Amino acid sequence: MSTTITTTPSSRAFISDNMAGASPQIAKAVAEAATGQVLPYGNDPFTADARRRLGEIFERDVDVFIVSTGSAANGLSLAALTPPWGSVLSHPDSHINHDECGAPEFFTGGAKLVSVPGDDGKIDPDAVPAAAGRRAGDVHSVQPSAVSISQATESGSVYTLEEIRRLSAIAKDAGLRVHMDGARFANALDHLGATPAEMTWKAGIDVLSFGATKNGAMTADAIVSFDPALAAELAFRAKRAGQLASKMRFHAAQIDAYLTDDLWLRNARQANAMATRLGDGLKAIPGTGLLAVPQANILFCRLPQQVTEGREADELGGEGGEDAGVVGLSGKEQVREDERRGRPVEKEVVPLDSGAHRAGDDGSVAVAARGSRLSGARTHGESLVFGGRAELIGGRLPRECSQVRDMSSN
Ligand SMILES: Cc1ncc(COP(=O)(O)O)c(C=O)c1O
Repeated sequence: MSTTITTTPSSRAFISDNMAGASPQIAKAVAEAATGQVLPYGNDPFTADARRRLGEIFERDVDVFIVSTGSAANGLSLAALTPPWGSVLSHPDSHINHDECGAPEFFTGGAKLVSVPGDDGKIDPDAVPAAAGRRAGDVHSVQPSAVSISQATESGSVYTLEEIRRLSAIAKDAGLRVHMDGARFANALDHLGATPAEMTWKAGIDVLSFGATKNGAMTADAIVSFDPALAAELAFRAKRAGQLASKMRFHAAQIDAYLTDDLWLRNARQANAMATRLGDGLKAIPGTGLLAVPQANILFCRLPQQVTEGREADELGGEGGEDAGVVGLSGKEQVREDERRGRPVEKEVVPLDSGAHRAGDDGSVAVAARGSRLSGARTHGESLVFGGRAELIGGRLPRECSQVRDMSSN
């Protein structure tokens, strides 16, 4: 069942950073790209500019393939690194493993994803050698071919540079290539204070899915390859996958604007700061505990018991379906919305009254449950993910993370 979530200026959606619109600079760049005639299929000046900028930020020649989704970037990248009889090692909670509907298997022509667990959504490097060596050379088994890490991870953690280097070195020793799912690359970069080069090719990354959509773009991510030998294959694969846009200029204009004047870094900095602020506010709510200190724009927290009870009550008495048990953080605006829809707010569980909790434009926040079907924060078990844009966000757990981003100040 689909859910329609509307937000008002004083409310913020909780599901995902995909709830946010786009940076005005990017919208403007797309509008400007709509005038005039340029060559199609990426042979245009916008694509040339985007490629040049990516080369600059990575401090070297790179091969760039602009695509329309992060899943396409991941699937195509992995296909270039893995034969159909290969396997890709990734964390069990990774987006490629959990949320891409088998796209990596599809794009690779049948390669297998093999889970390598670890704390905080990160692969345990010490578990890699055994996984990488598993039945190597045995024609009856898939052959470990690549490792894929998410930076930032789906849990909101960030691999340190040393962790990436170590993991890459172990993978390389075992003959595996290394892919980075950088759907939230800029957020991770901001957290580490590292350079793009340090976090990728200098640390052993072969191919990067460079995310932009979740951090201010509309519909554009890019594959950035640090291995020139993969360029031709990636070009053919992208075309074959329907990812060579005829009017590539519109995707490219987004990437170009995203990288202009550090917009991408400013957006990420703001998003990360808002996640930290949200976490600080949540920590102060009695009975609420963060599962981890947010390192990027994703955070998980445990709800107060009363909220959980409210959720359970909702599940018993609610409408059922996907919406059952929806709880959320809301500003007054959303409570009014709820009343407008004829649903009395039966329980306001934890009123927040200190400045530390303030988030909405009206300056007030409340955790509400039961009957107050707010902007879409969902619970799973006792946990709730908060994400989205600006100060207030939320989302689903444990598989779908939510993020914090506010583009309004950029
Ligand atoms: C870590 C991660 N990787 C990849 C993706 C895929 O992006 P898209 O939804 O554009 O396919 C997402 C989307 O949420 C994600 O969170």
